[in-house]
Amino acid sequence: MSRGGRGGKGGKERVRTARKRSASSTRWLQRQLNDPYVKKAKAEGYRSRAAYKLIELDERFGLLKGVEGVVDLGIAPGGWAQVVRQKAPKARVAGIDLLETDPIDGVEILQMDFMDDAAPGRLREALGGPADLVLSDMAANTVGHAQTDHLRTMGLVEAGLLFATEVLRPGGAYVAKVLAGGADNHLVAELKRHFRTVKHAKPPASRKGSSEWYVVAQGFKGREEEA
Ligand SMILES: C[S@@+](CC[C@H](N)C(=O)[O-])C[C@H]1O[C@@H](n2cnc3c(N)ncnc32)[C@H](O)[C@@H]1O
Repeated sequence: MSRGGRGGKGGKERVRTARKRSASSTRWLQRQLNDPYVKKAKAEGYRSRAAYKLIELDERFGLLKGVEGVVDLGIAPGGWAQVVRQKAPKARVAGIDLLETDPIDGVEILQMDFMDDAAPGRLREALGGPADLVLSDMAANTVGHAQTDHLRTMGLVEAGLLFATEVLRPGGAYVAKVLAGGADNHLVAELKRHFRTVKHAKPPASRKGSSEWYVVAQGFKGREEEA
């Protein structure tokens, strides 16, 4: 933040153009400095503006009410986990990320690739019981090739779904970030096979220009052997 200069009028932050900064990173910095959610997150002590996306999804879908076990896929830097801790202070919470996440009181954090074969088992161990909610804010690193980006992201959503069906209690929910266009037909069919309701949502805190959406699947029907 210290790199940005104060704008004169209307309290808007203006970014001094450094010779070495690319136009796109100047745009990113400008947007970041003027983003009300970034300011709010700083003022309210959230590690990321993403926290407000979960707050808004929770307001609309009642995701965190009464949950006793929550898994946070793609937990870093930890905004969603902070919201989970506030709204469900007694819940067991486990999260995973490729990146290091500063500790959060009451949250078990693994630093590893969720796509690693060992990850689901390690996460279940860390959670220590069934889950009522599996959250995935994971995003694949985009390469700019729309089809490749879509496939990679869908791979993460599908892996999250498989994990959710193994760990959720009947009635539980799975929420995952998807790209524009939402989950494809195959994935929606698969979600509907396991959950009573499947909806797409773009919370107000999700930037209008970004292609991200969330798929919200609620009312887990239970594993087949339990049915
Ligand atoms: C948008 S951020 C999550 C923000 C978080 N919800 C918050 O509120 O702070 C997405 C995260 O997903 C993680 N991620 C992407 N692919 C992953 C993978 N295969 N395994 C674990 N984490 C992954 C990234 O490292 C990144 O930290």
